[in-house]
Amino acid sequence: MILHQFKSLIRFYWKAGTIYNVHSDFLYQFLTTAMDLKKTYYAYPQIELIRSKLLKNDRVISIEDLGAGSHKMSTHDRKISKIASVSVSDLVSCRILFQIVEYFKCKNILELGTSLGISSLYLASSSKDIRVTTIEGDVSIANIARDVHAEAHADNIQIIHGTFEKVLPQYLKNSAKIDLAFIDGHHDEKATLDYFNQILNHCHYESIIILDDIYWSEGMTQAWMQIARHPKVTLALDLYIMGIVFLKPDLSKQYITYIPYRFKPWKIGLIG
Ligand SMILES: C[S@@+](CC[C@H](N)C(=O)[O-])C[C@H]1O[C@@H](n2cnc3c(N)ncnc32)[C@H](O)[C@@H]1O
Repeated sequence: MILHQFKSLIRFYWKAGTIYNVHSDFLYQFLTTAMDLKKTYYAYPQIELIRSKLLKNDRVISIEDLGAGSHKMSTHDRKISKIASVSVSDLVSCRILFQIVEYFKCKNILELGTSLGISSLYLASSSKDIRVTTIEGDVSIANIARDVHAEAHADNIQIIHGTFEKVLPQYLKNSAKIDLAFIDGHHDEKATLDYFNQILNHCHYESIIILDDIYWSEGMTQAWMQIARHPKVTLALDLYIMGIVFLKPDLSKQYITYIPYRFKPWKIGLIG
């Protein structure tokens, strides 16, 4: 898996071009506005303060191994600080989530994989009109995430405890169309494709689906490539750390690789 991630990273950098290759106005505006990671928002320091407390919390909790497991942890007793350092999205990913929600004014958001609730806070914090539903299979982790959301006074986030397999079909049956979905758990090819297809049936033309860890394993990359090629996907944006797909029918089908990090040259390229 590590070798796959390394080879994929080299290929990713190799295939990237420059932002001047972008001809679509929609994409240009999106990349230069929503993906401008030099921006800072009032919510960031507050959430990062909560993250820093989790990173110092050495309380041990018992957790179940769900999904495809983890490269870095195997025991069932884990320190909260360890979960915060290896399972929770980093600041770059979280800023991307916040800024996409803010840019597209997404309202009905679904997250698969809450962990300690940091990414859901970023998804929920740009407006009180947002409703985030986040699903977490481990009860101890879900309870900590509830405390995290209470500390941030984020009453626009609902955590559903249960496995994606059980909870997702039921949730979608009663949910309005999804504006943005963030799939960040159970990193298995077949499961990821299944969750994507279920969510896709509850999307509209402006919906956005974000998949985390698309180069986590060969299976995840296979799933991502199939999703990028799906007939309903018109734009697939490969950020290496995550993949973002758009369904807007007026876009011409494209696969874009893009390096969003502030400290890297801004690059973009068309591949495949
Ligand atoms: C990578 S973490 C989520 C990180 C979080 N979105 C963030 O960015 O901070 C994945 C979470 O999904 C949960 N999970 C994995 N497979 C699951 C499944 N099949 N059903 C429910 N929860 C699952 C794990 O317990 C874990 O907490």
